[in-house]
Amino acid sequence: MRIIVEKDYHSMSKKAALMLSSQITLKANSILGLATGGTPLAMYDKLIEMYREGEVDFKRVQSFNLDEYCGLAAENENSYHYYMQHNFFKDINIKAENINIPDGSSSDLIQECQNYENKIKQSGGIDLQVLGIGENGHIGFNEPAEKLNVATNIVELTEETIKANSRYFASKDEVPQKAISMGMATILKAKRIILLASGKNKAEAIAKTVNGKISTQVPASLLQSHPRITLIVDQQAASLI
Ligand code: GLP
Repeated sequence: MRIIVEKDYHSMSKKAALMLSSQITLKANSILGLATGGTPLAMYDKLIEMYREGEVDFKRVQSFNLDEYCGLAAENENSYHYYMQHNFFKDINIKAENINIPDGSSSDLIQECQNYENKIKQSGGIDLQVLGIGENGHIGFNEPAEKLNVATNIVELTEETIKANSRYFASKDEVPQKAISMGMATILKAKRIILLASGKNKAEAIAKTVNGKISTQVPASLLQSHPRITLIVDQQAASLI
């Protein structure tokens, strides 16, 4: 595990954006695994800025998002479809047909999960996966549990995650209780992974990810087994390492 500690959220985001852009420079048709949440927002802003300055070109890039809430239509402002469109895709030149996000509003969610997993496989696999981390150590929506999903699957969100994510919704009751998420093997099959974390509230999860035993109770700890993982964290998130 390579760990890069940056001064603050801004420099952490810049570092991550530079890693993504150099991946695309090396391979114009890179397949990126993308994350949502508050953490990658400034990274997306920096990438938009770099795109406008001609420093990165998304024309041939393909993307696969980690997860999506069940039951929210793409137009719903709380869906990850909306998040990606609004915070990133609308401002860069990625082609619509190259964007992949699980469809949480599908009438056959089980089939949707299988199709999504197959599509990742058929694409040749993710070159660089971006991850955030939940305060309880979840990645994607793989919540702490006795057993974790291998492939893309439907997951029940924990009370803790519903509470943490309710800040984006009008009320806690509006947060969906289920989501589609890439599974642990889907994530671990990525050729390279970067995990971003910022702030004191992530310090404990980061410490367990780096120094703890590998446990399904801390899904991010499974990343220790990945040969090419880089953590980019700010000083606060690194404070318990
Ligand atoms: C959600 C997402 C995760 C994300 C996590 C942390 O649960 N499914 O992919 O990493 O929240 O979000 P934030 O970056 O807002 O703390």
